[in-house]
Amino acid sequence: MLTLRLIEYGSCDYQHMVALRDKILRKPLGLSFTQEYLQQEINDVLVGCFDEQQLLGCCILTPLNDDALQLRQMAVDNGLQGKGIGSSILAFSEEQGRLNGFMELMMHARKEAVAFYAKNGYKVRGEEFEEVGIPHYEMFKRL
Ligand SMILES: CC(C)(COP(=O)(O)OP(=O)(O)OC[C@H]1O[C@@H](n2cnc3c(N)ncnc32)[C@H](O)[C@@H]1OP(=O)(O)O)[C@@H](O)C(=O)NCCC(=O)NCCS
Repeated sequence: MLTLRLIEYGSCDYQHMVALRDKILRKPLGLSFTQEYLQQEINDVLVGCFDEQQLLGCCILTPLNDDALQLRQMAVDNGLQGKGIGSSILAFSEEQGRLNGFMELMMHARKEAVAFYAKNGYKVRGEEFEEVGIPHYEMFKRL
């Protein structure tokens, strides 16, 4: 059975989360995480989708201000994409945002993931920009 839950920074689940993000989001771009980058996550909300103890997908929620929450590092494991896991991580994240009084969830969406976020009700704002060497769009949804 799939469950969505928060991941504790520095835990065993967190190590698996970093490994999944590295495999899905960084290695394909020839990049890797630095300790400085990971250390900043200590204050973030870390979300995981699990089958028993196995991590299938994840994301990070970073408050930008009292109103807006930024979703980052969304990744679903290879071979499990397109089965609704990403959408369930998004729905859980939106609920977390609402429960904590945020009015907006936004993200820097990779161009190839824009259709995924759009299917989940997110809208593009502004122009295309580059991040980690690839095109992105800012997208958002009122909670
Ligand atoms: C993007 C990603 C998080 C989506 O998660 P997922 O579990 O594969 O998505 P879902 O199965 O919940 O998809 C929901 C809908 O979006 C569509 N969709 C998912 N990824 C898509 C993509 N890259 N392009 C177009 N449509 C996509 C699905 O077809 C599905 O549509 P349907 O309901 O009509 O069948 C996942 O595919 C992934 O990790 N990709 C690689 C890393 C990445 O790009 N991360 C996002 C960084 S911003």
